[in-house]
Amino acid sequence: MALWDRIWVNARLATMRPDPAYGAVEDGAVAVADGRIAFAGPSEALPDRPEALARDVFDADGCWITPGLIDCHTHIVHGGNRAVEFEMRLNGASYEEIAAAGGGIVSTVRATRAAGEMDLFRAAERRLRPFLAEGVTHVEIKSGYGLDLETERRQLRVARQLAEHLPVDVSTSYLGAHALPAEFAGDADGYIDHVCSTVLPAIAGEGLADAVDGFCERIAFSTGQIARVFETAQALGLPVKLHAEQLSNQHGAAMAAGFGALSADHLEYLDEDGARAMAAAGTVAVLLPGAYYFLRETRLPPVEDLRWHGVRIAIASDCNPGSAPVGSLLLMLNMASTLFGLTPEEALAGVTREAARALGLGDSHGVLEPGRVADMAFWAIEHPAELAYRIAANPCRRVVKAGRIVLE
Ligand code: NIG
Ligand code: FE
Repeated sequence: MALWDRIWVNARLATMRPDPAYGAVEDGAVAVADGRIAFAGPSEALPDRPEALARDVFDADGCWITPGLIDCHTHIVHGGNRAVEFEMRLNGASYEEIAAAGGGIVSTVRATRAAGEMDLFRAAERRLRPFLAEGVTHVEIKSGYGLDLETERRQLRVARQLAEHLPVDVSTSYLGAHALPAEFAGDADGYIDHVCSTVLPAIAGEGLADAVDGFCERIAFSTGQIARVFETAQALGLPVKLHAEQLSNQHGAAMAAGFGALSADHLEYLDEDGARAMAAAGTVAVLLPGAYYFLRETRLPPVEDLRWHGVRIAIASDCNPGSAPVGSLLLMLNMASTLFGLTPEEALAGVTREAARALGLGDSHGVLEPGRVADMAFWAIEHPAELAYRIAANPCRRVVKAGRIVLE
């Protein structure tokens, strides 16, 4: 009886092990059994003929195989869109001015509160499908456009339903501390009390959140307010992460690192103390080039400091209606390289190995090696650097999710 369920031969592997570059194997094979990787290495290391090892033997036609891509920061479930605000910005208003005038995040809150569960699902599915066609097998989805219990719950339920209906796994994050809802105008502390006493315990009790996120910024919440949310999250056993240092330096990343945060995201205004604190805590830096680009920011995240201090770097789409209406994770690889100066290898690691780490899945996902979940993408490319090199191109030829072919 065959040992393994399926094997692909005649493949080139970017295993994303740290060494050599891309963890590359030129003449390789990958085998899966029970949804896990059973073998990923040079063909010559196979213990027998492929036909003797696996029930199904496939020819990968020389494709490169990478771990399935992971988008570790999205707000993909929401109502409405903000094309009109985009127009306002190009007529001279800033993102912060639009937020202060009642637009911005709270305008998406109004649209999301008005949308039914089915409408939210359909709209999110439409946005998500192009990512899946690009080899994305795992996506993080935040709430934060409901702000009241009922709508936050609806967003997170829709996020869970996407994983039930599509070939993708979803990690959810409760982002109650995203913006101040109209019903708490002028009382940010009162809203944070409400989050900590009522909404977060209910969401946690229903198992709807895998993590807790916040937005620490002048136009959102202070480090002290976010710290209260994080204390509650910790008491409930949930890991935390933070939108930090996007528009100004609030020292949010260091505060989050103090809570052992999985990640701190954006980070254009991060200072060296912040980078040091993140390194010490193992907090991943999630860089979001789509938001940087779309808001026409000029302040670059301190990539050199992050490297120097040994902070792990992930890349994500931030797919959201206000600052990053992004429909492609591959485009983020290109932007991470062209705008932020990441090498193509760092960019690819940022949506595989390091993105897995940013979701607390660093031992089970993001690398092609035995024992890990068999999520894989097959690419018709000559070299893995091509994934960051091309603009608006999708060379994905096949997607395997937990060992099964889900797209070909
Ligand atoms: O990640 N920074 C806060 N949240 C989103 C933007 C949300 C919005 O503008 O709707 C972000 O950029
Ligand atoms: Fe975000």
